[in-house]
Amino acid sequence: MKLILLGPPGAGKGTQAKMLTERFDIPQISTGDILRAAVKEGTPMGVKAKAFMDAGGLVPDEVVVGIVRERLQKPDCEKGFILDGFPRTEAQADALKATLASLGKELDAVISLEVDTEALVERLTGRRTCRGCGKGYHIKFDPPGEAGRCDACGGELFQREDDQETTIRNRLQVYHQQTMPLIDYYRRDGLLSAVDGMLPMDAVRERILAILQAA
Ligand code: AP5
Ligand code: ZN
Repeated sequence: MKLILLGPPGAGKGTQAKMLTERFDIPQISTGDILRAAVKEGTPMGVKAKAFMDAGGLVPDEVVVGIVRERLQKPDCEKGFILDGFPRTEAQADALKATLASLGKELDAVISLEVDTEALVERLTGRRTCRGCGKGYHIKFDPPGEAGRCDACGGELFQREDDQETTIRNRLQVYHQQTMPLIDYYRRDGLLSAVDGMLPMDAVRERILAILQAA
């Protein structure tokens, strides 16, 4: 299964990707996670990416295209992969096409998660992540258990730096300007399926699985 999860910040791409990796035993390739790890480690790429990410803008195409090209060549991508947060511009989509062609691979599906803007702001301001195991929560829609710690490992929960409302609104604007055109891009390629991302997480999951079964 070779899949792209497309959608605005907070649409549930990461949430659904985690479920799909378990179900199909294929890796989740999240450019956001890879970039955040590089920022944390202070690598040259991380240093370059940090200012763009803090402002809610996009990291330059050549940086992310390079990350994904390298990642797709790893052996664990043989069976398939889930791209989460990539591509985000037409140039990235073109570069992905070229990379997949050079590897003799083709996408099976592109799933676009559709969610209203105000719901996205509520989801992102309420999102929390476990420092220990990376598990995602939402203070209202998927709250942690006792004492506000991670149910899986007891780890401390934190809020992402770019999940402040002003930065969130910038990210949403960038999405509308630069990423939304990819919906038509993949519709033209006959790969696009839209899913109502306003539904509860389990219902979204069921709809995605039904689409993948037919793909
Ligand atoms: P990235 O990490 O990709 O962030 P994003 O696209 O803004 O997406 P999010 O992770 O915020 O949202 P999500 O859709 O995964 O939602 P989630 O499942 O967590 O990118 C961060 C930055 O890195 C970018 O701004 C950019 O600077 C840079 N970057 C990354 N990729 C790049 C690229 N390709 N090119 C250039 N720059 C790049 O869900 C959100 C919350 O909602 C959670 O709390 C969850 O519990 C809850 N939730 C999920 N589903 C539901 C539901 N159905 N109902 C109720 N609540 C739900
Ligand atoms: Zn945890």
